[in-house]
Amino acid sequence: MGSINWKVYFILISSCIIISSANAIDYPDERPSIESGKNIYLSNCAGCHGEKGDGSTFSGAFNFTNSEKIINSNSSIFFDAITNGIPGTAMSSFSKLPKKDRWDVIAYLWTFWIDRQSAENGKMIYVKNCAGCHGMLGNGYGFPEAFDFTNLSQTASKQPSVFFDRLTQGIPGTAMRSYKSDLTENERWDAVKYLFTFQFSDYQFPVPQITQPQITPATTKPQYSGKEWYNTTGGGAIILVSAGLAIFILYLFIRGLKER
Ligand code: HEC
Ligand code: HEC
Repeated sequence: MGSINWKVYFILISSCIIISSANAIDYPDERPSIESGKNIYLSNCAGCHGEKGDGSTFSGAFNFTNSEKIINSNSSIFFDAITNGIPGTAMSSFSKLPKKDRWDVIAYLWTFWIDRQSAENGKMIYVKNCAGCHGMLGNGYGFPEAFDFTNLSQTASKQPSVFFDRLTQGIPGTAMRSYKSDLTENERWDAVKYLFTFQFSDYQFPVPQITQPQITPATTKPQYSGKEWYNTTGGGAIILVSAGLAIFILYLFIRGLKER
């Protein structure tokens, strides 16, 4: 009897371990890179999901540009599909790709939905309304317990629709209030798209970044790409314009003297 119990326990415990390890999401060690994900996507996925992510090259392939579908998905669901495949469909397992590559390709998948215009608009909304608590870098530095959008173990399992609901309704009993009356529906979606970019290491914005003034150490020379400032085109233009102005002022001064 004792040995049977031992076997039953062994099977129970080992199946628990197998089930939990199959469901556990193996988060990346560092934030995924869109740039690296793009190459992985083009060589492994574009054949079915299309270069633009719209699923156009294989009938039934997921369309990552479809807002209604993607707002109800999340990075953990994507990771599971890429790692294990979707049984009974053409979507096979890509577990042969290193874990880092699977996360990088996920970062790239989101760019099909997060268009640059919306993300830029979202950034302006964020800097004005949210950065005070969630931090300029989205890491929650600014207010105790403010959500950290850069931490994949917190963010990867959140759908865009969840963020949108929190932003619309607020989270009762916390500092997170409702923004329904401050921001239009479109503005709230733009803010959510920007929040999502904090998951990646390299979503760059062409708009000038607000940075602290740099203090140059005394040992390094200021850099003017190898030239002194007056040797550059801009510097030359400044000299010409100031010389012209000086001559003009001198001329006015002499004319003034003559007229007396
Ligand atoms: C042979 C064609 C094919 C290739 C290659 C392929 N996919 Fe898919 N993929 C599909 C199909 C078909 C589906 C939809 C399955 C279904 O019906 O749910 C899908 C679904 C998915 C989903 C699930 C989305 C969701 O939330 O349900 C993800 C994520 C995904 N693919 C990512 C990738 C990535 C990343 C690659 C490359 C590493 C890739 N796929 C390569 C055909 C393919
Ligand atoms: C006064 C500080 C404060 C401001 C301002 C603020 N938040 Fe929050 N936010 C919080 C806190 C605190 C939480 C965590 C609440 C909790 O305990 O679940 C949070 C949670 C969230 C969540 C939920 C994350 C999740 O799924 O659990 C989202 C989304 C969010 N904030 C977005 C925003 C956006 C977008 C703005 C600007 C429009 C904003 N917040 C402004 C403090 C703030």
